[in-house]
Amino acid sequence: KKRRKSLYSCQSCGYQTPKWMGRCPECGGWDTLVEEVITEGDRFQASPSAKRVATPEPESILAIETQEEPRMPSGIPEFDRVLGGGIVAGSLVLIGGDPGIGKSTLMLQALDGLARDGRRVLYVSGEESKGQIHLRSQRLGVSSGSLMVVTEIHVDAVLALLESQKPAAVVIDSVQTMYNAELASAPGSVGQVRETTMKLMVAAKKSGIPIFLVGHVTKDGAIAGPRVMEHMVDTVLYFEGDTNHIFRVLRAVKNRFGSTNEIGVFEMRGGGLAQVPNPSALFLAERPESAPGSVVTASMEGTRPILVEVQGLVSRSGLGTPRRTVLGLDSNRVALLVAVMEKKIGMNLAGLDIFMNVAGGVRVTEPAVDLAILAAAASSFLDRPLPEGAVVLGEVGLTGEVRGISQLEGRAAEIRKMGFTHFIVPESGAKRLKKIDGLKVSGVRHVAQAMEILF
Ligand code: TYD
Ligand code: MG
Repeated sequence: KKRRKSLYSCQSCGYQTPKWMGRCPECGGWDTLVEEVITEGDRFQASPSAKRVATPEPESILAIETQEEPRMPSGIPEFDRVLGGGIVAGSLVLIGGDPGIGKSTLMLQALDGLARDGRRVLYVSGEESKGQIHLRSQRLGVSSGSLMVVTEIHVDAVLALLESQKPAAVVIDSVQTMYNAELASAPGSVGQVRETTMKLMVAAKKSGIPIFLVGHVTKDGAIAGPRVMEHMVDTVLYFEGDTNHIFRVLRAVKNRFGSTNEIGVFEMRGGGLAQVPNPSALFLAERPESAPGSVVTASMEGTRPILVEVQGLVSRSGLGTPRRTVLGLDSNRVALLVAVMEKKIGMNLAGLDIFMNVAGGVRVTEPAVDLAILAAAASSFLDRPLPEGAVVLGEVGLTGEVRGISQLEGRAAEIRKMGFTHFIVPESGAKRLKKIDGLKVSGVRHVAQAMEILF
C-alpha cells in the first residue's frame, strides 16, 4: 500500500522535519524549509521485520583479500592526479563548482580522452541541447566517435540506459536538472538531489561503471544540493577559480581512493581547458619586480610545491575602525600575525588599513606561509621591497618564534628551479637542508631575526 507523506527539507543543509518552520533549527537559515511529498512505497517500506536479513559473516582483517583497484586514465594527467591516479571502476564522483567555471567543458574533454582509446562513453545532459553540446565539442576539438550524447532528465531513464549501453564511463550534467517522478518536489530541490545521488550510487556499485555527477554550487550555498551529497559519494572534486581569471584549480576535498590535497591546475582558453604543468610560473607571471608588499612563498599543494605571491598593503585609514581585508588567506591567522608584529617587533599597525591577497585568485591556508604573510605586511608598512630572489617560509608562533615546516627539500628544489636564490626558512629546517648550488639558505628562529635579514 502506498501512503503520501509530507516532509520539509532545508534547501541549504538538508535538515528534515515533518512540521513547517520559518527557520531551520540546524543551520539557522530563514525560509529554507520546502515541502517535499514522498510517496511511501517500495524503498521506504523497510520495516526490519518485513524481510529477514541474513546474518553477515565477519572475517579476520588479515584474511581479507584485496585487489588493487583498476584505474582508467582519462588522458588528462592533471585530472587523473586529482582523482588519485586515474578513474576507479564503480566510483561516484561529484564535480562541484560555480556556474560557468568550466565543469561541462572539463567533463567533455575527459570523456573525449577516455573515448580516444575506442571506449564507449556517455554524456548525459539535462541542461543543454544536443546542438549546443555539438557546438561546444567542435570548439574543444572533440574527435572521438564513441563519445555518445543524450539529453535526459529522468533518472530512471538514465539508469535504464546504463544497463543497456554499459558505457565505460558516464557524466551526468547536472544533478540539479535530474528528476525522480516519485518525488513531488522540483528538480534541484534537496530531496531530488539526494534521491538522484542515492540511485546513481547504487548503479555505480552494481555495474562497476564510474559515474561523474556535475553539481552547481555557489559560495553562499544558494543552490541546493552538493553539500548534502558530499557524504554520499566516493569522491568530491571542486573546480574553483575566479571567472575573471583564466586559472582553474581542480581540488579533491574528499576521496575514498586517494589523497585529498592534490590539485590540478588548468587554464581556460578559447579551445577549452589546457593543463598547466608548471603552475608556479603561471602564478608568478605578473609579479612586480622589487615592489614593497610582494613576497614569494612556496605552498605545498598535495605532493607538489607551488610558488605563490603573497601581497600586503598597509595604509593609513580614513575610518574609525581600520579595515582588515583578506583574500585567499585565513583571516584569523592574518589577525594573529598582525598582533605578533605589533607586540614582538614593535610595528605599530593600530589605525592602519591592512589588505592581504594571494595573487592569481589562489587560496593558501598552510601555516607554513605565516612568515611570508608577515613579511608582506612588514614590507608594505616599511615601504621597502624584499631582497631580490628571496623566498620566505615558516610558521609563526605567538611569541614570535619561527617554527619548522614540512617538506622543505621539495620546496627548495622548486624555488631553485624557478630561479630564486635566497631561501629564508626556520633554523631547524635550514640545518637539515642539503646544499643546493646557487641557493643561499638563511635559518631564522624569531620574526625579528627574519626582519633583520629582509629589510
Ligand atoms: P562551462 O563548462 O559551460 O561551465 P559550467 O559547466 O561549470 O557551468 O564553461 C563556461 C565558460 O567557459 C563559458 O563562459 C565560456 C568558457 N569557455 C571558454 O572560454 N572556452 C571554451 O573552449 C569553452 C567550451 C568555454
Ligand atoms: Mg555546464
